[in-house]
Amino acid sequence: MSRDYRVPAGVELLDRQRIEEGLQPSARALLAELVVADVLDSTNAEVLRRMKEGAGSGLVCVAEQQTAGRGRRGRNWVSPLASNIYLSLSWEFAGEPAKLEGLSLAVGVAVAEALRSAGVPGIGLKWPNDVLAGGAKLGGILVEMIAGADNTCRVVVGIGLNVNMPQHAIAEIDQSWTDVKTAMGGDVSRNALLISLLDQLLPLLDGFEVGGFTPWRERWCGLDAFAGREVIVTSGEQSTAGIARGIDQSGALVLETALGSQVFHGGEVSVRIVQ
Ligand code: BTN
Repeated sequence: MSRDYRVPAGVELLDRQRIEEGLQPSARALLAELVVADVLDSTNAEVLRRMKEGAGSGLVCVAEQQTAGRGRRGRNWVSPLASNIYLSLSWEFAGEPAKLEGLSLAVGVAVAEALRSAGVPGIGLKWPNDVLAGGAKLGGILVEMIAGADNTCRVVVGIGLNVNMPQHAIAEIDQSWTDVKTAMGGDVSRNALLISLLDQLLPLLDGFEVGGFTPWRERWCGLDAFAGREVIVTSGEQSTAGIARGIDQSGALVLETALGSQVFHGGEVSVRIVQ
């Protein structure tokens, strides 16, 4: 089915019915509930609250605006009204948290593939899970987890995607960024983008418990924007220089240094290119 990513003049608001009806049947079957909110503190916080009240897998929450959008490493996620995508999904997995190694990288692949299928050019990934267009940050992924005593992991997958960043919000952003409108050279429909994202993300979450990260690793490497580049990896006070050599089976970053190969796991680690 061809999807219309263009928007007519004026603001296009998020539309629950349009999103639900646009989903592929396989994704629609995995959607338990779609919440479309005007304003929330954070879609991740909202889904976590609802999970604590009993929501299971397949709760999807989007908001027009976040007043306390959360980024990685304690950062704020700039979330102006009716401009971008703020999306969170819930999923329950059986087993230990270690089984979810690589989940956030697999989410990056799903987001990148959804953007490519929507025609956004120059898409790449920066370890651990920044989504880039033309080398600048287009989106980010924040996975939060509630480990249960009953050998289950309840997970919230949060995705922020810059679609049409308004002028007034730009001053708040403290890193190199871009948006889908700039990358595509014109307005795009957030509803159509959300449909593409959910068509990829719901089946990914459904399959990850059994398949794990293995089927996603090669696709992640194919999108790796830093492969073979000279980088500096910072973890706490420690900075290490080397050549980025992709990721291992668990999704950890492999760095070739003067002292040999080193691996870095997610969390508080950041990577930048040596200029
Ligand atoms: C990053 O720092 O790169 C991750 C950003 C994740 C932002 C998204 S927006 C939707 C969801 N709700 C939040 O509060 N954060 C995530």
